[in-house]
Amino acid sequence: MSDSSMWPQLGYGLGLRTEHYSDVLEGRTTDVDWFEVISENFMDSGGRPLRILEAVRRDRPVALHGVGLSIGSSDALNERYLEQLDSLAKRIEPALITDHLCWTGTGGRGLYDLLPLPYTEEVLEYVASRVRRVQDRLGRRILLENASTYLEWSATQMPESEFLAELSRRADCGILLDVNNVYVSCTNHGLDAQRYIDAIPAERVGQIHLAGFTDMGSYLFDTHSAPVCDEVWSLYRRAVARLGESSTLVEWDDDIPSLERLTQELDRARGEATRARESRDEDEKEDGDVGTHDAP
Ligand SMILES: [Fe+2]
Repeated sequence: MSDSSMWPQLGYGLGLRTEHYSDVLEGRTTDVDWFEVISENFMDSGGRPLRILEAVRRDRPVALHGVGLSIGSSDALNERYLEQLDSLAKRIEPALITDHLCWTGTGGRGLYDLLPLPYTEEVLEYVASRVRRVQDRLGRRILLENASTYLEWSATQMPESEFLAELSRRADCGILLDVNNVYVSCTNHGLDAQRYIDAIPAERVGQIHLAGFTDMGSYLFDTHSAPVCDEVWSLYRRAVARLGESSTLVEWDDDIPSLERLTQELDRARGEATRARESRDEDEKEDGDVGTHDAP
């Protein structure tokens, strides 16, 4: 079970997108427990976006989700970036600050993608030291998300799930478990997605992402442009059964549907999570009953 004292339980949330600003500001999002925003969209800017974010934050929790930390890069950590992120965090007081287990550039050049790392002991220690520095700078734990991947390094020595699990322990950070990304990456690399979920330490998971992908024929592409598929719902139930309650977000960033359609997807997540917990509780009760009968 996840440690509720370590992570806030936010409920079921959506990404805050400009398409929904008026719905949010005019109070038509009461079914959304919390919002996630892309940190970088608000780090440089003042003006209307920041005023809207502050208005949203007055009503409910917000998570800052970054794409530019580049925690695995061989470049030094970007102190200006950390200063801006810290400043935004002080202003918004987010429930969670998250980014990705990846690198996004090197030699000062941004590559505008979330690129995978070679999962080796040396990289593990390197990334853990950088996570600790970021957390010291921000004065709080961050959560790192498993990104969708399409390539693996030949130097890799351990599964991504094992790397992420050990990283969370060494750096004392959290995990944002993107169940869709688990499915996309494992399918692309011929790996067992259930085994991946089972290898993640429950107490470290502070948030779950759900999303839809595009089947490109020879691989799955993480497009966030479709409903959550049945296989990912199944993995989500497995994750919830292990983790218990965990803040869950439905990501939909391309071909964004109406707010009504998005809240339907959120309602399904609520229902799937409830069923997963009830099923787990029944299994545990049956195990307990069997234990009672077998006792001498
Ligand atoms: Fe995600």
